[in-house]
Amino acid sequence: MFSVAKNFCIAVSLVFAIGATLSADSVIREIRWDDLARPLQQILEAHGLSGPTFTAYIGSVRERNQKRVREGELDHLVYYTLQSASFTSLPAIEPALSAKAFIDRRSIPPDVAARVDALLKAIDGGDPSPRLSYFREIAARAYPDRATRRSSILGEYARAMRFLYDKEFVAAADADAAAATGLLYQQRGLSTDTSVEAGYLVDLELATLRELEPRCRIREVLIVGPGLDVAPRTGLVESGEPQSYQPFAVIDSLLGRGLADRATLHVTAADINAHVVDWVRGSRGTRPHLMLVSGVRETDRVRFTDDYRSYFERLGRSIGVEAARTAAPGHLAKTIDLSAGITDAVDAATLDAVVDRLDRKFDLVVVTNVFPYLTDADLSLALANIALMLAPDGILLHNEPRPLAAAAGRAAGLSPIHSRSAIVATVEGGRSPLYDAIWMFRAR
Ligand SMILES: C[S@@+](CC[C@H](N)C(=O)[O-])C[C@H]1O[C@@H](n2cnc3c(N)ncnc32)[C@H](O)[C@@H]1O
Repeated sequence: MFSVAKNFCIAVSLVFAIGATLSADSVIREIRWDDLARPLQQILEAHGLSGPTFTAYIGSVRERNQKRVREGELDHLVYYTLQSASFTSLPAIEPALSAKAFIDRRSIPPDVAARVDALLKAIDGGDPSPRLSYFREIAARAYPDRATRRSSILGEYARAMRFLYDKEFVAAADADAAAATGLLYQQRGLSTDTSVEAGYLVDLELATLRELEPRCRIREVLIVGPGLDVAPRTGLVESGEPQSYQPFAVIDSLLGRGLADRATLHVTAADINAHVVDWVRGSRGTRPHLMLVSGVRETDRVRFTDDYRSYFERLGRSIGVEAARTAAPGHLAKTIDLSAGITDAVDAATLDAVVDRLDRKFDLVVVTNVFPYLTDADLSLALANIALMLAPDGILLHNEPRPLAAAAGRAAGLSPIHSRSAIVATVEGGRSPLYDAIWMFRAR
């Protein structure tokens, strides 16, 4: 634990008392070399960046990240094709096993080709179910020519399976498996996967903030990369429509921990993926049934901790009422009917946080499971953009374990306040329990 400055949160946000009426369509600014403090420039110079080449570098990152957004969506299409029970009665295929079969036989396994055919038939049919409609749109946009759609999707399957094989069988066997997996993530498509587990650590850290600074009040919140629950790599649960629930989980924690008031709290969800932004914007003025399902599944070896169970029990109580238990065997699952007006506290902006920032200030920025996708240089740039969006004494919460995150954060003007880890589930006979960690920084 780091030392804490007294009363750091009190002055936050007085300037933004009208925050709830501001729009996320505020000005977006591209980062410039001159925006960066000298210590951060030095970190970037060590990665080969410099003033004269900076604009060209930013342009190349922007282009590469857009390509990664498309690849990430097609990864989800592949995982949906392999696992969904909604468009076919063919047996589901576990993606990691399929990756091994594909690499071993060096050709598309017949069970995969059969599922792709079933998907294409369903896409051409009129089934309006929300997930299938989502992927119908992705497939039509990526491959407008229906004649080549099948071979293109099989090509995406091959790409996705090579990554999965490298992750599950090559990197996992590396002497430094974490570093090897980390490097793969920095190149892969940008997944929109989201999990309730990320909210657990955010909730715990907000409780710490409340203890450290009881008078702290949060009004303007930025969530970078809230994600969309579409079709994860494994354990697809298909109840309901794809949703982005992190903004609501954060609101729930802020209200539940007494750090914010409903009347003045305003959350901006900023994501590079337009589908995420569209869903958040589309939810405004509505009262969606939030389908909350743990990413982790309990088995005879995997057991949730009591603390995590108790977080899941509490989750949603400050923003709505529990409507029904969702059927998802082994998972913790429930449905929350959001209270009237909650969605109006959230708006959204399309933003690549490596290269751009909103020209606004926030009391709290939350970033979970986004930084692993960034190279060291891009992580440093994202931290610079976030530091520029924090109000004086504003708080950043993130869960990136690379030591660089602390070094670049400091160089960008952020002071470490606190960090912790928490166990989500124990694994009998496993090398370690399932756990996550979180870091809290304050803008100087
Ligand atoms: C793996 S999901 C994590 C979702 C959620 N934060 C959670 O922890 O469950 C990563 C999200 O970050 C978004 N993302 C990735 N790179 C980004 C960037 N450079 N700028 C903004 N959003 C980004 C992705 O589109 C996706 O929605």
